[in-house]
Amino acid sequence: MTFSRRHFIAASGSAILGTAVSGISSSAAAAFSQPKLPYDLDALSPTISARTVGLHYGKHHAGYFNKLNQLVQNTPYADITLEEVISKSNLVKDQSIFNQAAQAWNHNFYWAQFKGGPQAPTDSFKVVVERDFGGMDDLKKQMIEASDRVFGTGWVWLVNDNNKLEILALQDAGTPLALSKIPVIGIDVWEHAYYLDYENRRTEHVRAVLDKLVNWRYASEQFQM
Ligand SMILES: [Fe+2]
Repeated sequence: MTFSRRHFIAASGSAILGTAVSGISSSAAAAFSQPKLPYDLDALSPTISARTVGLHYGKHHAGYFNKLNQLVQNTPYADITLEEVISKSNLVKDQSIFNQAAQAWNHNFYWAQFKGGPQAPTDSFKVVVERDFGGMDDLKKQMIEASDRVFGTGWVWLVNDNNKLEILALQDAGTPLALSKIPVIGIDVWEHAYYLDYENRRTEHVRAVLDKLVNWRYASEQFQM
């Protein structure tokens, strides 16, 4: 499940192609297909309920794939990978295609980072976190603060930017793939991710996800290039 730097090919100053996350990357096909959820619907409960996961995965995430497949029919986008669709649509400002493709990919990453349950980061990743943030608690604190800066819908990403960890607060379908940065952790702060369980308590939700759900070993592997 390593998201290796060697799989990133700089296609332009603002685009990267060719990701290869096992189980969540894509190959060019007639239709883009949503990866299977890598665990049961109740696997994230009680931090995220089975009902929320069911709706989030089965309606919202599936919806991005459905709409993307409708939009790319009979276009050159239909014959390239999902990552290439993100890159190309971002480059030419094809916003409707970009939104659906980026959200499809972002959610692929989102589900994958919880697989295996909450696990501790590797020692080498902890060293990087201490170097860049002062420690795991400070990293989480800054990610939570970043989530508070997202007005409305969006994502908080922890990314690898030239071997340095960086936190991004991105609106809507914002994705590190469009910024030539490597995703390490991605927290969905759209209301559909938490509202059934936390109502308006978004900060509480983000804290719980970071503390109780994220597989930090997986995050460590995403950073290791
Ligand atoms: Fe979502």
